[in-house]
Amino acid sequence: MLNPFLLMAAFYLIVAIVAAADAALTSFNLIPWFVGLPWLRVHFITLGVLTESAFAALPAFVAGRRGVETPATRWDMWLLLNAGLVVLLAGIPSISAALIITGGTLIFIAVTLLILQLRSIGGEKNQGTGSLKFYVSGLSYLLLGILIGTGLWVGWSEPLRIGIPKEAHIHANSWGFASLVFAGLLVDLLPALTGKPLASRRTINAIFWAMTLGALGLVLGPWLNGNLFVTVPGLALHIGATVALLVSLVRSLRTHGLFANAGAWHLTVSYLWILLPVLVAPLIILKVANIPGADIEATAPQALVYGWMGQFLYAVVPFLAARWLLRDPEARLGGNWLSLIAVNLGGILIWASIFLIDVREPLHAIAYVMLGVSLVAAAWETGVITLTALRRAEQRSLQAA
Ligand code: HEM
Repeated sequence: MLNPFLLMAAFYLIVAIVAAADAALTSFNLIPWFVGLPWLRVHFITLGVLTESAFAALPAFVAGRRGVETPATRWDMWLLLNAGLVVLLAGIPSISAALIITGGTLIFIAVTLLILQLRSIGGEKNQGTGSLKFYVSGLSYLLLGILIGTGLWVGWSEPLRIGIPKEAHIHANSWGFASLVFAGLLVDLLPALTGKPLASRRTINAIFWAMTLGALGLVLGPWLNGNLFVTVPGLALHIGATVALLVSLVRSLRTHGLFANAGAWHLTVSYLWILLPVLVAPLIILKVANIPGADIEATAPQALVYGWMGQFLYAVVPFLAARWLLRDPEARLGGNWLSLIAVNLGGILIWASIFLIDVREPLHAIAYVMLGVSLVAAAWETGVITLTALRRAEQRSLQAA
């Protein structure tokens, strides 16, 4: 059976190319600005590729770890997630409260069902071990992120007393959901790639707790109007955990000679794009002269989404597709040298556009051309795997008929 969540992840990877091309064309003033497109651009990757991939991979990884069979497709979850996404794609650009609440609620229910499914596959005794706790914690932050995100444009932030709601939404989803799910995926992926665990059980546990508590501080910070007493310890814990994860990852990939392929570089370099805003954050907080805080806040999320989440997924999605669409036990990390150079050049140009105000528009445009090129390069591989799997499935059903 083909994994339908992965088919949707491949689909949104391709749709994301159109959104990147649109950003380039609007920055070159070749087509007019369309309200809502920045939202679509970011969320084609965060919801379209990242969340779909999580639904595809996490039950299979948790089942694999327990030595039980991969569970059958949950079509109820597939329908809820994808119906919610389509309703949001219509609701956000038109700022329709009814559609936004409906879409957000459908996705919230789908994620809740995924958490329950993972907990039941994991079994009572395994709740605290391996990758499962990363997934449950990450998905719980996603629920919080959805709650804040759904309320962003429909006025829930005031009754919930969220001081800086957009930042709280981004933090819950990036530092909470994506960080923890990526860490869990690395815990599961590395043994599949190298035959050895990513790190000792103690190190993995320490990373889990520092990341989970760090994310809490980073969500509470903007929730409590930029409260530094929760933000700073949160930031310190989260960076500590991310650096420890990165050190273990590099050590493991190097020992097994995996840096000969672009995929290992994609995984590693992607983390620089989450550490960069962290290094700049103190300069914004301390209001250091000439650091354009407002411009960084408006532009940096795009570099974070493409440079970190996108780039990580360039390596992981082809692996998942080969493993669960083609049933290839020798699946390897995806990405190539072109996608590696293009995505990182795109991220550098987005950051450069923040500081070089006179050439901001052309830099932005070239950045999106680069990001578009990287998406094409990465989506190509996933597309070929997906098409091969679909053709095989078609042939099988014709032979059976
Ligand atoms: C039901 C799910 C979600 C809803 C309803 C939602 C809603 C929103 C809204 C309304 C904005 C504000 C756009 C603006 O002010 O320009 C936003 C921004 C953002 N969201 Fe979400 N979101 C959802 C899921 C996610 C997920 C899963 C992630 C990441 C993993 C994410 C990451 C972001 C980022 C990075 C931004 C900032 C974009 C920018 O400023 O360029 N969101 N979201």
